[in-house]
Amino acid sequence: MTKRPKVLVARRVPAAVIDKLSRHFELDTVPGDTVLTPDELRARLQGKAGAYITGTVRITGELLDACPELRVISTMSVGYNHIDLPACTARRVLVTNTPDVLTETTADFGFALLMATARRMSEGERLLRDGRWESWSWDFLAGADVHGTTLGILGMGRIGQAIARRGHSGFGMKVIYHNRSRLPAETESQLAARYLSKDELLREADHLILVLPYSAASHHCIGAAEIALMKPTATLVNIARGGIVDEDALAAALREHRIAAAGLDVFEGEPRVNPALLPLPNVVLTPHIASATMPTRLAMADLAADNLVAALTGATPPTPLNPEILPLQ
Ligand code: DGY
Repeated sequence: MTKRPKVLVARRVPAAVIDKLSRHFELDTVPGDTVLTPDELRARLQGKAGAYITGTVRITGELLDACPELRVISTMSVGYNHIDLPACTARRVLVTNTPDVLTETTADFGFALLMATARRMSEGERLLRDGRWESWSWDFLAGADVHGTTLGILGMGRIGQAIARRGHSGFGMKVIYHNRSRLPAETESQLAARYLSKDELLREADHLILVLPYSAASHHCIGAAEIALMKPTATLVNIARGGIVDEDALAAALREHRIAAAGLDVFEGEPRVNPALLPLPNVVLTPHIASATMPTRLAMADLAADNLVAALTGATPPTPLNPEILPLQ
């Protein structure tokens, strides 16, 4: 019998994934939700041809050098800033991610966070639960409108476009966006979205949502100078990656009411949250759950398994990030 490739499943995953992978591979599984330390990860990857990981497992060139048999890394996430992709490509290690299957769910959440932020929902719930709801007044928890306002989208990929559709078709919003590359005219007209420079976007948006990928280029691309361009009534929502926003600058702006409110699902040092954000009433904080519905998480888990199976059995994986290295030797 030919030897089956060895695969590390570095996090707890749905049982169906283990079933699928175990039909093809000899598995080494990490059953709990604790993230392996870099030393543990290196040790567990010895002799493995594949790794099934999530966004909390960091893959560096140094790690790859210590695990020369590794040929495929499948991450159960659309974001891949935890993986040094050029280092993988240079070593002919294939990387796959899970786009598309989470687009609509993540866009739903982005919109929910925008609504919660604009309409001060967390603030209201905290007040109610604390027994501080005493009377009605004309401006009691009065927030900002969402319908009919201007929605600014920074990062107009699949998720950005799904948010644009919600804003335009569902809420009659005027949609403006900025992206590294401008969309084709036909897509812009389907989305009723207008391309602006980043500064114009910051100035014009009533609600600004960040959906761009995190990289060295986007690190802290929303800081004090950018926030200073925004309207004092504007809200800022981040469902991309924490490192895109300078959280100290944002906390200061929220404290001084230089913008109205923010909704954050992602944090620079997560799961640690910048303590400057915690006491602020005008920020809605959620623990990186934009893609967290059961059907979507199962679809992501399944796609990550399909990628690994295809890549290590000589087929073309559905969603490779560095397809230029295919076919694998
Ligand atoms: C992703 O898929 O990148 C989401 O942020 C969940 O990790």
